[in-house]
Formats: sequence, C-alpha cells, structure tokens
Amino acid sequence: MQHIPPLWLDPETHLARRTPDHPILYFSPRVLHHVAERFQAGFGGLVTYAVKANPHPAVLSNLVAAGINAFDVASPAEMEAVRTASAEAVMHYNNPMRSREEIDAGIKYDVASWSVDELSELEKLHAVPRSKEIAVRFALPVSGAAYDFGSKFGAAPLEAVELLKRVAAEGWTPALCFHPGTQCEDEAAWVEYIHAAKRIVDAAGVPIARLNVGGGFAANRDGEAPDLERVFSAINLATQEAFGAQRPQLICEPGRAMVSESFTLAARIKGMRKGGEVIFLNDGIYGGLVDIRDMGLPGRVEVVNADGQHRQGERRPRVVFGPTCDSLDRLPDGLPLPEDTRTGDYVLFPGLGAYSSAMSTQFNGYGLSDVATVIELSGQQPK
Ligand SMILES: Cc1ncc(COP(=O)(O)O)c(C=O)c1O
Repeated sequence: MQHIPPLWLDPETHLARRTPDHPILYFSPRVLHHVAERFQAGFGGLVTYAVKANPHPAVLSNLVAAGINAFDVASPAEMEAVRTASAEAVMHYNNPMRSREEIDAGIKYDVASWSVDELSELEKLHAVPRSKEIAVRFALPVSGAAYDFGSKFGAAPLEAVELLKRVAAEGWTPALCFHPGTQCEDEAAWVEYIHAAKRIVDAAGVPIARLNVGGGFAANRDGEAPDLERVFSAINLATQEAFGAQRPQLICEPGRAMVSESFTLAARIKGMRKGGEVIFLNDGIYGGLVDIRDMGLPGRVEVVNADGQHRQGERRPRVVFGPTCDSLDRLPDGLPLPEDTRTGDYVLFPGLGAYSSAMSTQFNGYGLSDVATVIELSGQQPK
C-alpha cells in the first residue's frame, strides 16, 4: 500500500499537536510550485534547479511535477538523486573540478552540459562525447552578491577566449557560463557579465549556442520579496543589446531563490540565561542554521509557544547559541525575539529551504533530520 505522509495545515498546528523536541523543517509544496512557475513564466530561457541548495527527494519530485526537467548537479550523488526523481531529467554538471571517476559517472548519467574553467580540466574531459555541450565558466570582479564566487571558480576573460576556441576546435558544442554570486541583489552584475560574454565570443570568433547566467537570484531575507521579474527583464534586455540576432539560448540555475521560501525551520528553546538575554536553541550553525552564520541574521523570525500561539511582546535582541558543546555554535548576535519568549517555545525561521538540511551535520548528535509537509507556512500565502 502506498504510504501517504500526513499533511498539516501549518507549522503552528503541528507544533501544538506534537510539541516536537527536535528541530523541524516545514515544507509547503504549494509555495515551491508557485516559485517554480514564477521562474518559468518570467525567465526567458531554460530554468534548471541547482540541486545543492536542497536535494530532498520531495523537492526534486515537486520540481519535476512543476515542469522543471533540467538540473544543475555537482557530484555523482546529486546525479543519482535527480535520476531517482525523474528518468528523463537532463543534467548539467557545473562543478568545474572533477576527479576522473566523477567524469566517468557524468558520462554514465549522460550529462548534457559540462562547465570548465581551466585547460587542465578541459583535457580531463577527453572521453565526453562530442555531441555534448561544454560551457566555459568565466569570472569578473563584480559586486552585488553576499560573497565572492569568482575567487574559487571561473577563468579570466582572456583565458575564457582560449578555452572557448579549444572547445569548438575539439568538436563539442561551445557555450559560456558564469555565476554572479549567491544572494545577488543587484541586476547590474548580470548585465556586466552578459556584455563580457559577448566580448569573449567576439574575441574567440566562436558563436555560442547557450549562455548560462547562473544562480545567485536573491531570496527573501527581510520580509520584502525580491523583484525577480526586474532581474529577468534586465537579463533579457542585456542579452538582446549584447547579442542582437546572434542571441544564444539562456539558461539559469537558481538554488537559493527557487527553494528558500518553501521551507520554514522551527527550533525549540532549550533554556534561557541572564534574564533571557542568552538563549539556547536545539539547532544551530552545525545544523539547519548554518547559512545564517554566513549570510547574517534574517529579518524575519517568529516565536510560537507550545500551544501554537505567536508571542506578541516587544522585541529585544538576544545572544543565541546552538545545542552543541562548541562555543562557535552561536548565531550572529542580536536576534530580535519577543519579550514574552519562554523556554519550550519555538523560534520559526521562514525562508530556510536553501543550504539548511543540505548542510546540516549530526555533530554532537544534533542536526536536522525531520521534514513535515504543510499547506501553508505560518499563515503566509505565496505572493
Ligand atoms: C554552478 C552553480 N550553479 C548554481 C548555484 C546556485 O546558486 P544560488 O543558490 O545562489 O542560486 C551554485 C551555488 O553554489 C553553483 O555553484
């Protein structure tokens, strides 16, 4: 008999009925479908999903159901997860550093597009069938993102010219790709990259079939939903201006912006010290809150008591520690929580679908392992 997991109305209902003593991620497939549709309607090209942001089987299968059939994968394990979700899904292997065994796995999984940013890595791809696409990844010193992606991967434009020539000469389908950096809040970064892509194409004398404009689309961190459509239209306009009649097909590979909003994380308060100035949660930076360490405190948090009621008191900043014995297990200081917050309450972190469960460890026996499916997330309707 098919197992149908229980579907809860919202996190508050689940918390009040079950009073769980471990951290939980609440997943709303409805919100995920809505975001996937927004990307597919607004982005003028192929929308793929960066599996690394959240490879949960329910995320992958819901994206397939929402019409996403191409995925950015970074490892054989991610390829396996995608293949399990869909026998037909197309894979783009855009981790430019691969072992020979990983390349063999990519060939076995029939990867359609491979990114490369160094000649030695291109040489490692010699067994990749010539019917496949190789996208040269380049990097520019642009700002706008939460942190610099160009310091690890991406050829300088002059190197990209040489790589693109080599890809074409070897007989693969040439393409270009870039990633402006995660949580990129300035569409000017994409515009600059797209014009640079055209200069690389011209200098190489190699037309490209496709231009992959990366992930990096911003998620809602402070309560104001980012205007994705403004970014889509800037990308569209810049591609038209730069390439005109030779416009390549566009690809995007959002991770964070695709999946963030469909999950809320609930962590329980284990104890409070110094008159409530210091709070200990049952999740922290070694668990589902790791992204907060790197991205800073989110602008949205709610506190719910064990009856599922929201605490309404005036907010004051707190020091928040995670559950492990490690003193680094601490959120950036100043999380504003209501005055009437008590031990046993739950802190709800909306928008924590990306880089949460995917990066959670089991350090000290803690970490994220439970996902509950809900219709709504804390009374929020998809915008
Ligand atoms: C190649 C590539 N594509 C897409 C992504 C997803 O980026 P984001 O989650 O910022 O959309 C990443 C993130 O590391 C990446 O490395």
